Amino acid sequence: MNNKIVITNDGSHSIFNPEINETYHSKHGAIVEAEHVFIKNGFSKANKNELNILEIGFGTGLNALLTSQKAMQKSITVNYHTMELYPVPKENYTQLNFTDLIGLEKESLLNLHETPWEEEYKINEFFTLNKSKSDLENYTSNTKFDIIYFDAFSPEKQPELWTEIIFKKMYNYLKEDGFLVTYCAKGVVKRTMKAVGFDVIALDGPPGKRQMTRANKN
Ligand SMILES: C[S@@+](CC[C@H](N)C(=O)[O-])C[C@H]1O[C@@H](n2cnc3c(N)ncnc32)[C@H](O)[C@@H]1O
Repeated sequence: MNNKIVITNDGSHSIFNPEINETYHSKHGAIVEAEHVFIKNGFSKANKNELNILEIGFGTGLNALLTSQKAMQKSITVNYHTMELYPVPKENYTQLNFTDLIGLEKESLLNLHETPWEEEYKINEFFTLNKSKSDLENYTSNTKFDIIYFDAFSPEKQPELWTEIIFKKMYNYLKEDGFLVTYCAKGVVKRTMKAVGFDVIALDGPPGKRQMTRANKN
C-alpha cells in the first residue's frame, strides 16, 4: 500500500489510496461527514439502550471511534462488528489526528486498531468491538443488527459491493426494525436497495453533498 495521509476541510485527516485513486472520506471533512452520516442519522436515530452495529469497512477506525465516544456519553451499550479486507498499516493509523480534534486520548484510537482480529474485545463498559479481517462478499455473522454503517468505497470504484446480492445480505442481517445508512445517494444504488425490500429515504447530505441515504428494513 502507498497510502497517503491527507487533511480534509474540517482539519481532520483521511487516507488517500492511490491504487484506486480514492480518499476514505469526503474532502469537505472526514469527521464532519462521519458525524453527519453515521452518528446523527445512524446511531442517534435508533433510540435504544443497547445496539448491535455492523460497519462495512473499518478503515481508519473513525466511525468506531465516534460511536464509542457517543456510546459512553449517552450510556448506550454498543456491540460493534466491523470488517476490513485491507487493514490500515500502523505507520498510517498512528499519524491520524482524530482524537486530538474530538478531545480523546490518542490511545482510544490505537486500542481500536490494536485489538485482535476475529475476537470479541471489550474496550470499555459501553463498547465491545468485533473486528473481522474479511471480505464483505464472504463475510458471515450470526448476529442481527440494529444499524449497518455501509461505508464501502464508492460504487464507481467497487461496483461489486453495491449489488443486489450484497444488499439482500445486509437486509437479512438487520433486525425487523433495523436500518442501513450510507453516504451514497446514487439513484441506481437506491433502486437496488428498493429491489431487495428496503424502504429508502433520502436525507440531507453532509457538507459538499446534497443527499445521503437511509434504508429501513420495515
Ligand atoms: C470509504 S473507506 C471507509 C473506511 C472507514 N469506515 C473509515 O472511516 O475510515 C472503505 C473501506 O472499505 C475497505 N474495503 C474495501 N473493499 C472491501 C471488501 N471487499 N471487504 C471489506 N472491506 C473492504 C477499504 O479497505 C476501506 O478501509
